[in-house]
Order: sequence, then structure tokens, then C-alpha cells
Amino acid sequence: MTANTNQPNPHSFPPRFTWGVATSSYQIEGAAHEDGRSPSIWDTFCATPGKVLNGDNGDVACDHYHRLDSDLDLIASVGVNAYRFSVAWPRVVPEGRGTPNPAGLDFYSRLVDGLLARGITPWLTLYHWDLPQVLQDAGGWPKRDTALALGDYAAVVTDALGDRVKHWITINEPWVAAFMGYGNGVHAPGHTDLAESFAASHHLLLAHGLALQAIRANVPGAKAGITLNLAAAYPATGSPEDQAAAWRQDGFANRWYLDPVFGRGYPQDMVERLGAASPQAQGLVRGSDLETIGAPTDFLGVNMYSRSVVADAPGEGFLDVRQLRVEGSEYTGFDWEVAPQSLTDLMLRLQRDYNPPALYITENGATYPDTVAEDGTVHDEERTRYFQQHLAALGAAITGGAKMAGYFAWSLMDNFEWAEGYDKRFGIVHVDFETQARTLKASGRWYRDFLARAQEGQPA
Ligand code: FCB
Repeated sequence: MTANTNQPNPHSFPPRFTWGVATSSYQIEGAAHEDGRSPSIWDTFCATPGKVLNGDNGDVACDHYHRLDSDLDLIASVGVNAYRFSVAWPRVVPEGRGTPNPAGLDFYSRLVDGLLARGITPWLTLYHWDLPQVLQDAGGWPKRDTALALGDYAAVVTDALGDRVKHWITINEPWVAAFMGYGNGVHAPGHTDLAESFAASHHLLLAHGLALQAIRANVPGAKAGITLNLAAAYPATGSPEDQAAAWRQDGFANRWYLDPVFGRGYPQDMVERLGAASPQAQGLVRGSDLETIGAPTDFLGVNMYSRSVVADAPGEGFLDVRQLRVEGSEYTGFDWEVAPQSLTDLMLRLQRDYNPPALYITENGATYPDTVAEDGTVHDEERTRYFQQHLAALGAAITGGAKMAGYFAWSLMDNFEWAEGYDKRFGIVHVDFETQARTLKASGRWYRDFLARAQEGQPA
């Protein structure tokens, strides 16, 4: 672990490395009922008692929709050369399919222009979980039509912004959207059905493939890929049982998405384990689906926060696996283990096993119970240390041969953290949700200074 307790070396990253911060539409925009936006599954979920902590919702969030220009200045003040955001589908195609909403598209057009004017490269995510409620009413992700609708929506967005946006992420974290949305019910729409969740996983992947086709058709010179949430899985002991458990965990969380995206189809061991719940047994994998999903991408985006350590546990869920808390390890406010070495391990494994043309960390960060000091700032040393350790681990991955091309910190600012409402703060900027005041935290100052050194001497 010693390498990761070191400070990251700003000069160990390649020239023109992408340095960014990331956000998503529902988490920051607010203006939930304005300018023709229709409700998303998250509006509905938030309005359902008991689903979101403190009954919080995204009606106002960071009020980013109304504070676009000052937020763009804020992004620029951190010194990043890229900004990852997502487009709200219910804002630009309120009926889910059909007529685009000019006011919705105009917001993103101004966002993109504002970034370009500040010398910041826009990284656009098409789907970061805010499915139009009308499409959920028609069955949502367990239904194939939802994937087709996403393809149409992708055509609308690429048509409108493809002249200026060249970096495209199709889907954010299909595992979370499928499993937490339809399997364990922690996220919208809150269903708890294993078969539905695996049907959803197939259609989210199909949607990725269809979005890719729209991007290729409409955006000359685009760089396109998907963002997966991946966590390296380690066995609790060296026993063959625990090692097999770690492989199953890897199959569920990582390979189920990696294998089809890299053109290999679904991992057979998982298809067998799922039995009747698999998309295959449900008759959902049709014709050329696997070719559509496995079409070449330009990069793989990885959201990395932690790792999993698992033991064999017959009878626990469909995986027969138990997640363990690691004695002596540090944990963040989300109870996620701080495991920077696993970032290095994961990147090297991805490069070796899947050989992506480029790898980006599209999210990495930590939540802690921040307090605002009397001087008005947040002295979030733990978060700073988290970033330092993970950037050092990223440097080690580069040295080891991983084709790392960029890193986005999650998140630009504190925001609506899904089922946890406003309780879990991930920002490098503190947001006072009463006044909407933004204050760069100590971690944000550290990141800014680090980026200044990493980009020294490079053309802006
Ligand atoms: C990821 C999500 C992102 C944020 C972070 C903490 O799973 O993509 O929106 O909630 O976790």
C-alpha cells in the first residue's frame, strides 16, 4: 500500500491529460417543473414517502439551471480542462419519444457554448438515470421499447449539439440503473424483482449500442463510450470457496457489463447462475443485439469509489456471496472502504483483459460529514487525502501500462445524492442549500493547485 500513501506526482501524467469535474442533471439542475420539462422517475420516487432520506427531492437541488453562468465561472476557477455533465431526457424530449423541446435543448446549447468559451471541453452523458416517467409508465427499462426510445433521444441530442460536443458517454452506470432501480429497489423506480433487473440490464446495454449508432451517424470525429461503475472484487481469504465467490461478485458487478460491451456477449457462468432470471431465458436477447452492444467504442469510462471484499456464503442471495467490512481499513461517510490500491489493480486488469483504446476515470470521490468552519470554509482533509491517494494510484496504473487518458472528480459541488438526499456531500465545492452559496472546500483548493502544476507549460 505504500505507493498510495505518497503524494501524487503532477508531472507523472501525460501531456493533454483530461482533467475534469463531473455532475449529473437531476442532481444539480433543479427547475424540475420549468420550460416544459416533464417528470422523471426520480421526481416520482422522491414524492413517494420513505424512499428518499428526509423526503428530499430535486425540485431545486443546486438551482444550476438558473445559475448557469456563475457555475460555469466556478468550473473554470478550478482549472479543469473538461466538464462532465448529463442531459435530462425529460427536459429535451418531454414525452420520452417524439417532439423535442426547444427550451430544453437551448439550456444545454448555452451550457456547451459557455464551456467552449472558457476553454473547457464538454463531456456529455446522455443518460444519468432520469428516465421520463411516461416511459416508466409504459414499462421502463425492463421493456425493449425504452432502449429504442433512448436511441431516438440520442439522435435528437446529437443533432442539436454534435457540432460542438465531441465527447459522448452513452449510459452512466447501467449496473446501478438496473439493479438498484429494479432489483433491490433502493433507487427509482424502486422495484424489487431480479428478473426485471436483468431484463433492464440488457435493455440499458442495448440502449448504449443504439446511442452509439446515433453518435456515429451524427457526430463526425466523436469520441464515444460508456461509463461503468466497477469495483475490483477480492476474496476474503485464499480459500478456493472465497476465490470462487470473488469471481461471482466480479461476474455480477463487472463482467456482466464489460464482456458484452467489449463484444464477447454475456459471461456464461452468470447466465447459468441466473437461470430463469437471465435475459436469455426471458427471450430478450434478439437478433443482432450482441453486435449492437459490442460495437467498438473509443474509450471506457470507469466510475471508481471503492472495492469489494467477499466471502463464500451459500444461501445469501442469488450470488451466495457476503460483502465484508475490512478490519483496520478506513471508510468514507457512505461506508465505502477507501481502497486506492484497488484502482491501480482494476485499471491494470482492464487493460490486460479487455484492452480498451483509452481509459478514463469518469467519477471518483468521497463523502464525509463536512462541517463549515468559522472562517466559512470546509477543511475536508479526509477528502483531500482520498483524492491524493487515488491520483497516486492512477499514476501507478499509468506506470504499469494502463492507457489512462483522463480523470474526473465527483463532484463539482454538493448535490442531490439520490436515495440519500442532500445528506451525503461529495462536492469539492460546498453548497449551502438555504442560500445556494458556493464555497470551494480545502479539497477543491488542493485539486486546483494540483491541476495547475500538472498542466504547467501546456497550451491552454
Ligand atoms: C455514482 C453516481 C453519481 C453519484 C456518485 C456518488 O454511482 O453515478 O451520480 O451519485 O455515485
